[in-house]
Amino acid sequence: MHATIAFIGAGNMSRAIFGGMLKNGYPAEQIFATGRDLAKLADLAEMGIKIGTDNAQAMAESSVVVLAVKPQLMQAAIVPLAEVAQQHQPLIISVAAGITAASIEKWLGGNLSVVRCMPNTPALVQLGASALCANKEVTGAQKQLAETIIGNTGLAVWVDTEEQLDVVTALSGSGPAYFFLLMEAMIDAATKQGLSREVAEQLALQTATGAAAMAQQSDLQPAQLRRRVTSPKGTTEQAILSFQGAGFAEIIELGMQANINRSKQLAIELA
Ligand SMILES: NC(=O)c1ccc[n+]([C@@H]2O[C@H](COP(=O)([O-])OP(=O)(O)OC[C@H]3O[C@@H](n4cnc5c(N)ncnc54)[C@H](OP(=O)(O)O)[C@@H]3O)[C@@H](O)[C@H]2O)c1
Repeated sequence: MHATIAFIGAGNMSRAIFGGMLKNGYPAEQIFATGRDLAKLADLAEMGIKIGTDNAQAMAESSVVVLAVKPQLMQAAIVPLAEVAQQHQPLIISVAAGITAASIEKWLGGNLSVVRCMPNTPALVQLGASALCANKEVTGAQKQLAETIIGNTGLAVWVDTEEQLDVVTALSGSGPAYFFLLMEAMIDAATKQGLSREVAEQLALQTATGAAAMAQQSDLQPAQLRRRVTSPKGTTEQAILSFQGAGFAEIIELGMQANINRSKQLAIELA
C-alpha cells in the first residue's frame, strides 16, 4: 500500500523527486502536485498525477507532504495550512534552502515531524546527492519513508544537525556549480592553447565523468587516486604543483566558508 504524497509547489525539484518515483514504479494516482496556476500542471495530469491549486486539500489527503516552493514564498504558502497540518499530522519533508525545521514547525502550528532535505540539481537526472536531517518528532518509520522518497533522485544520507546541512549546502548543494566552473576553466584554457571548443568540451566532460566513475568504483580515496596518476617529474605533477602554489585548497576552503556564511545569513532573513 503506497502513501499518498503531496508536493506543494510542482517546480523543478518536485518534478525531479516524483519523476524518480514514477520511474521506480510509484503509482501516479498516489501523487498530488499543487501549484498556483493549474495550466502549468496540465502535463502532470496527463501522467495520471492528481493536480490542484488547493494546498490544504493536498495536505488533507496525504500522509507525506513535500514542501518545494521557493524559500522566500514558503511562509506565505504554509501558514494557511496550519489547521489542516495539526488535524492530519503528516510527515513534512522540506527541500527549501535556508529554512529551518523550527520555522516550518512554527508556521504549521508546532509538534510536527519535519525532515529537512538539501538536494542538488543532478537530482533532475537521478544522480542527485541529498542530505536529510530529522527533527525529534520524526519516527524511525518516517525516516525510512523520507529516505526512500528522496532516494528516488539518487544518493540520500542523514546528518545529525541542521548546522551540518549548511556544510552539505556548501559541498553537494552548490557543488555541481563548482565542477561546472572547473570544466569551464579547463575548456577555456585548452581552447586558448589551440584546441577547438567542441573537442575541448567533449574531452573535458568525458574526463569529469571518467574521474567521478573511477572515484566511485575504487576503494582508494581521491587523494590516493590523484597521487597514482601523478608521476614524479611528469606533466600532471607540474600542473598540480602550479595549482597548489596558487593556493588551490585554500581557494576551495574560502569559497565553501563563504557559502556556509550565506546559508546562516539566509536562515536569519527567512526565519
Ligand atoms: N533546483 C535546485 O537545484 C534546488 C536545490 C536545492 C534546493 N532547492 C529548493 O527546492 C525548492 C524549489 O525549487 P525549484 O527550483 O523547484 O523552484 P521552482 O521550479 O520555481 O518551483 C517552485 C514551484 O512552486 C510553485 N509555487 C509558488 N508558490 C506556491 C504556492 N503558494 N502554492 C503552491 N505552489 C506554489 C511555483 O509556481 P509558479 O511557477 O506558478 O510560481 C513553482 O512551480 C526551493 O525551496 C529551493 O530552495 C532547489
